[in-house]
Amino acid sequence: MKLWAGRFQKETDTLVNDFNSSITFDARLYRQDIAGSIAHATMLGEQGIIAKEEADEIIAGLKAILDDIEAGHVEFSVDNEDIHMNIETMLTERIGQTGKRLHTARSRNDQVAVDFRMYVRQEISVTISMVLELEKVLVKKAREHLDTVMPGYTHLQRAQPTTFAHYMMAYANMLRRDITRLEDCLERMDECPLGAGALATSTYPVDRFRTAQLLGFSKPTDNSMDAVSDRDFAIELTSALSILMMHLSRFSEEIILWCSWEFKFVELDDAYSTGSSIMPQKKNPDVAELVRGKTGRVYGSLVTLLTVMKGIPLAYNKDMQEDKEPVFDAIDTVEQCVPVFTAMVDTLTVKTKTMARAASGGFINATDCADYLVKKGLPFRDAYMIVGRLVNMCIKNGEDLETLTLKDFRAISSVFDEDVYQALLLKTCVNGRKVYGGPSRGSVEKQIESIEAFLEARAS
Ligand code: ARG
Repeated sequence: MKLWAGRFQKETDTLVNDFNSSITFDARLYRQDIAGSIAHATMLGEQGIIAKEEADEIIAGLKAILDDIEAGHVEFSVDNEDIHMNIETMLTERIGQTGKRLHTARSRNDQVAVDFRMYVRQEISVTISMVLELEKVLVKKAREHLDTVMPGYTHLQRAQPTTFAHYMMAYANMLRRDITRLEDCLERMDECPLGAGALATSTYPVDRFRTAQLLGFSKPTDNSMDAVSDRDFAIELTSALSILMMHLSRFSEEIILWCSWEFKFVELDDAYSTGSSIMPQKKNPDVAELVRGKTGRVYGSLVTLLTVMKGIPLAYNKDMQEDKEPVFDAIDTVEQCVPVFTAMVDTLTVKTKTMARAASGGFINATDCADYLVKKGLPFRDAYMIVGRLVNMCIKNGEDLETLTLKDFRAISSVFDEDVYQALLLKTCVNGRKVYGGPSRGSVEKQIESIEAFLEARAS
């Protein structure tokens, strides 16, 4: 018999029974549900709302249920609709009448809100620790490749020389923002909805500060209607996860390009790439492609949640049961992607020679050539025009700037001197960019130190 059967004269239609039930997916909240119930029972006992012995009996019963679930001895039932009613029903079956007192001054509305928050809180910490590991790998790669010159692109056209270290630190900075976004999310959701009841609290002398404290929240939520209606924390999480995945997807796209024969800037470890069933020569970057592809799922979760929430009046509506699967899927996806992505980056080999070769072609030092003239006193716009003409000349004759003779240079501008060749060296171009945030060795070392300090502050 259903916990709410009293008002009804007919059994629920079996189609409705299945349709309404969430146990197939919210069973994963069992730990949070039991922790929330233990805190609630503790508070009820302390406040004299139920007898102390009754609270103890309930708590012991809940602990035993937890052990049995963990040991795989419990089967949940669709008839009991969700994790909350499954556990409550089980409790009463086990300890009898006292079990029926647990739901005093509580509703499934505040119950699900607290369970879900606690689950999200736990998984945010797991995700953060995974992204921190990825940061460590990026720092390691950057340290190894401070002098590995490669082309930097705009419009996917060779633009200006940079280093692999500078490139890795670009991603490290994006991921640092991802981590702080997740931390912000944790901070904002640090309020306990328990005690809000269905929407308007209750007439019992419940102590919401006590349950908040028992469950590790800083304080109870300030408004009970908001407490049971709010799913911002889930939306913020999926939004932060979407941005994180967007970064991983861009990074994946680069790795996929860099693995191609056209680039050959990196080679993936055999353990992190796959072959083709028909083409024997293939070594495919499937991991990067899957991360890029799975980004769509996480975006999908965010859009689902925003759409579910956009039109529902306060307070709880059953629509909100649809909040869990997208959040679970987004979390599962990210927690699957980040470690495999980290291992893939950790084990890839950087083809420093190909990178250097690519950086030597395509007039990547043209800006530096113009800057050379500016340092000799020309206005930048005139210098730009002169180098444009030089590049045009090179393209016609199949040359690079550094292969032109001094005579060729001087034919366009008499300002050129022997020292132009030094100015055009890739190493000079990179290390001359000593500006804060730039690719010179010293600048990138500062960027690495900044990320290391960030990691240090979060080292457990
Ligand atoms: N299974 C429900 C959910 O996930 C729990 C809350 C049900 N509350 C209610 N008033 N029907 O949202």
